[in-house]
Amino acid sequence: MRGARGVAALTGSGVSAESGVPTFRDAQTGLWERFDPEELATPEAFLRDPKLVWEWYSWRRELVARAEPNPAHRALADLERRVPSFALITQNVDGLHRRAGSRNVIELHGNILRTVCSAERLPREPGEGAPPRCPRCGAPLRPDVVWFGEALPPGAMEAASEAARSCEVFLCVGTSGVVYPAAGLPREAAGAGALVVEVNPEPTPVTPLAAFALRGRAGELLPALVAAAFSAG
Ligand code: APR
Repeated sequence: MRGARGVAALTGSGVSAESGVPTFRDAQTGLWERFDPEELATPEAFLRDPKLVWEWYSWRRELVARAEPNPAHRALADLERRVPSFALITQNVDGLHRRAGSRNVIELHGNILRTVCSAERLPREPGEGAPPRCPRCGAPLRPDVVWFGEALPPGAMEAASEAARSCEVFLCVGTSGVVYPAAGLPREAAGAGALVVEVNPEPTPVTPLAAFALRGRAGELLPALVAAAFSAG
């Protein structure tokens, strides 16, 4: 990476696992184990049971608020300072990359620490339940995150695709690589000639695209990778 002009990184919940924020599909801690995704991260679930969805996100928001960036987040922020061009594309909604010092961060799935008025994105009022009300219009608030079936923030995917197509090294860290459109980025990078490096304890659909598949935890491997890349001075 030392000589690379452009580096891009795609991160998933695995990069925050060592900060104590549970991943979604990991066998050990997979939250989906306990809930059917349809029960939580969809507009239909929120309309059907706003109390369950709001309470699950409130619980996760408290976890995120207590979490601290780990060495993986800090290594990516360090890398951004060392290369001429760097883009951090994250599926995570925990805001930990920015808290670690990363600046060029593309949050594909929003940010759980923000709330928005549900009237802006939902076709009708949800049923009775927990969410607080919008101070402007009185509609229930919802987490400012992208639910399954919803559009990504305007421009986010375009910026992410541009970064994937123009980088020389594409890091894919802590993602199961199964949720599109983010999961298409490693192939886009590889197709444009980037060297793909995966950091994950487990193989994923990204692994066949990777020139290097580093098996282990991001909190250990990323600092070592950045140090090795720049140790020659
Ligand atoms: N370091 C690196 N990778 C790790 C670590 C770690 N310490 N711990 C777990 N992982 C890996 C797991 O092996 C798994 O491949 O992180 C990945 C987590 O995968 P998921 O739980 O599927 O999370 P993610 O890929 O981010 O999910 C994508 O799906 O539910 C939606 O919107 C949600 O953004 C999320 C999207």
